[in-house]
Amino acid sequence: MNSDIKDKSLAAKGKARIEWAERDMPVLSQVKEKFAKSQILKGKKMSACLHVTAETANLVRALQAGGADIVLCASNPLSTQDDVAASLVADYGISVYAIKGEDNATYHKHLIAAVEHSPVVTMDDGCDLVSAISSKYPDIAKQIIGSMEETTTGVIRLKAMERDGVLKFPVVAVNDAQTKNLFDNRYGTGQSTLDGIIRATDMLIAGKNVVVAGYGWCGKGFAMRCKGMGANVIVTEVSPVKAIEAAMDGFRVMTMLEAASIGDLFCTLTGDMHVIASAHFEKMKDGAVVCNSGHFDIEIDIKGLRKMAKSERKNVRNFVDQFVMPDGRSIYLLAEGRLVNLGAAEGHPASVMDMSFSTQALATEYVIKNVGKLAAKVYNVPQEIEDWVATAKLKSMGIRIDTLTPEQAKYLTSWQEGT
Ligand SMILES: NC(=O)c1ccc[n+]([C@@H]2O[C@H](COP(=O)([O-])OP(=O)(O)OC[C@H]3O[C@@H](n4cnc5c(N)ncnc54)[C@H](O)[C@@H]3O)[C@@H](O)[C@H]2O)c1
Repeated sequence: MNSDIKDKSLAAKGKARIEWAERDMPVLSQVKEKFAKSQILKGKKMSACLHVTAETANLVRALQAGGADIVLCASNPLSTQDDVAASLVADYGISVYAIKGEDNATYHKHLIAAVEHSPVVTMDDGCDLVSAISSKYPDIAKQIIGSMEETTTGVIRLKAMERDGVLKFPVVAVNDAQTKNLFDNRYGTGQSTLDGIIRATDMLIAGKNVVVAGYGWCGKGFAMRCKGMGANVIVTEVSPVKAIEAAMDGFRVMTMLEAASIGDLFCTLTGDMHVIASAHFEKMKDGAVVCNSGHFDIEIDIKGLRKMAKSERKNVRNFVDQFVMPDGRSIYLLAEGRLVNLGAAEGHPASVMDMSFSTQALATEYVIKNVGKLAAKVYNVPQEIEDWVATAKLKSMGIRIDTLTPEQAKYLTSWQEGT
């Protein structure tokens, strides 16, 4: 078995972390048991490009229990938990290619190692793996039964590939499942982004002007949590509908240029590029803190910031870099502009990843069961999978809900009854 990780001796700490996360992943544990019995993935080579966290380790263990021969590589240079990677290799015999803080060349080398495993099923978080296979490995692309995509940015890229006629195999947009984005993007990103910011800076959120760029699922979750901690939240948007929603949720909405001189803390969660750029840095207060929780590190124009700055001091604290402007103001950038929740904290809590990763695993079962029947398109997660995951999660939370009476069920599907 080949791997490239930081240090195998970190395995014991990583194993404890994986087991701690597992306690909060009861639905995934059920899926693991189901897979262990059915052996649905027996002998199937899989490559997964995901954030290497304790929760991901439990997903990989579920796939392994189903018989998969799986290789895991990082989906971001800064999101790997080195102790978890060590445990996956030492305790569970899984090949892992991921080192926290790896440079871009190593990141790509690791991605290629996952491609060269020659998978028939892939899993992606951001579409880097599918994009590498589709553009450079036609023989591997031909053998792929299907792939799963975990995040919004990945789904956007995949739909662009489908539109341009370059998507070579079926992909399930796991991100678009309600059992994923309603909870993972909203509550997971909301809480863990704030967690990353606080761990990195130790700043008090109460009373701060927090500028949230993007009011999609992630932005909504983050804005809601900041409000809960007493911040004055400002939202910036490009969608008129989302902007109205933010205003009616009680937030101030304005342009980034207006917000630039007001904010104490800025966080981008848009999936877009250069949402914060030179014109904004120009207006920011001394001491402004800037970070990103969108998928790629292009939401903040870091090159532009670097050009403008008189000097740059790396690591004034862990994951905090200081940029001193020619007029003496300092701007602090967290986690190099990469996902702050995974760079400076531990990513989403296990309880929320329980649903995302159960959906991932069951979507994998779905593509295997439907081999040959799916076209090279982006598919939604089937409703039965969402219902199964939501029902199992509710049960694990000890919550019971009402069921429709036959009379109600009939009423809700008929048109005859009115005023
Ligand atoms: N940090 C994490 O762990 C994590 C988790 C899930 C998703 N993500 C990533 O976060 C990003 C957002 O995901 P989402 O699910 O909220 O997407 P979404 O599509 O629901 O929301 C994005 C919002 O940003 C807005 N937007 C786009 N460009 C903008 C701009 N220039 N200024 C202001 N607003 C702008 C859009 O109108 C939209 O409302 C994606 O890159 C996604 O992959 C990160």
